[in-house]
Order: sequence, then C-alpha cells, then structure tokens
Amino acid sequence: MSTRRKILLFLLVAVVVIQFIPVDRSAAPVQINDDIRSVANVPAEVSVLLEQACYDCHSNETNYPWYSRIAPVSWMLQNHIKEGREEMNFSVWASYPEKKQRHKMDESYELVGEGEMPLKGYTLMHAHARLSDAQRKTLTDWFMSQAGKSGERMNEAHEEHSEHD
Ligand code: HEC
Repeated sequence: MSTRRKILLFLLVAVVVIQFIPVDRSAAPVQINDDIRSVANVPAEVSVLLEQACYDCHSNETNYPWYSRIAPVSWMLQNHIKEGREEMNFSVWASYPEKKQRHKMDESYELVGEGEMPLKGYTLMHAHARLSDAQRKTLTDWFMSQAGKSGERMNEAHEEHSEHD
C-alpha cells in the first residue's frame, strides 16, 4: 500500500472510531412552570422567536439535528449547548433572582442588537434561527422592556416615550 493510501485509511478508521466516544446530551427534565414563558410576560411573537433562535442552546429543550450526531461536529455543538445553558437557561428562569433575570435581559438586548446572538456558526446551519431586522427589533424591544427601568438606555427609552405623552 502507498503511504497516501495508508494515511487515507488511517483517517477513515479514525473518523469511524471517534463516533463511539460518548457525548453527554442529557438535560434536566423540563419543568414548564419554571420556564420564562410561564413566569414572564412573553408575547406570542416573542415566544416563537426565542424558541427558534435561542432555545437550542439556552434551554433544556434542545432539538438535535442529524449532523449533531456526527463527531467531531457533535463535540463542538454539545460544548456550545453546555456553555449556553450555563450562561442563561430559559427553562429554569423561575430559579433566577429578579436581579439576575434583568441582567440577562440586558445582556440579551446587547448581544442580539449587535448581532452576536444567535451564534453565527449556528445560523449558517439553521435557517429558522436567522433573524430579519424586524424580528431582531421585536426581540430587542422586548428584552429592553424586561431589563427594568434603570440605566442609561432605559432613560433614553423613557424620554422617547415621554415625547408621545
Ligand atoms: C448555538 C448556540 C447558541 C444559540 C442558538 C444562542 N446562544 Fe447565546 N450563548 C451561547 C454560548 C456558547 C454562550 C456563552 C459564550 C459566549 O458568550 O459566547 C452564550 C451566551 C449568551 C449570553 C451571555 C450571558 C451573559 O450573561 O454573559 C446571552 C445574553 C445570550 N447568549 C443570549 C442569547 C439569545 C437571546 C439568543 C437567541 C436570540 C441566543 N443567545 C442564542 C450559545 C448560543
């Protein structure tokens, strides 16, 4: 066998072998009463956007696409999901103190406004998670309303609002 063939064969075997390394896809069972959709005032259109663009990584209700079963993609994805849940998990919203909830809404306002969330690699593969400008605005307006009434942006929002009074 030529060296090139040996290398190819080795790679092929390696790809097959890594499929057997277990990936922990477990999630805590979903308690719908603790979900943000149960404890916060989430309008239907916002709820749909959160589910489509955030829930795969920021909840215990992850939908795994077929390619998420194939190593090494599966390792990367599971890592994003694990980190995403640790940072903010909409499924356990009721367990967050109010201050933390407001802070996470403020962070969401910023990250979604800047186009950093949902993660870019993810939207490449998930067309349903790509946000139009209008959808982005629906989300950021709602995040801001949930972030509370303090801070600079909130004052700006308040001033804008007063003009209409
Ligand atoms: C593909 C997985 C994925 C998706 C989808 C996703 N996120 Fe994230 N998110 C992450 C990961 C991983 C982190 C932690 C690392 C980082 O900040 O980049 C994170 C971090 C965050 C943080 C930072 C929390 C903090 O306090 O620092 C916020 C807020 C956030 N995401 C909001 C959202 C929102 C809102 C959506 C939906 C519009 C969303 N994310 C969609 C994976 C994801």
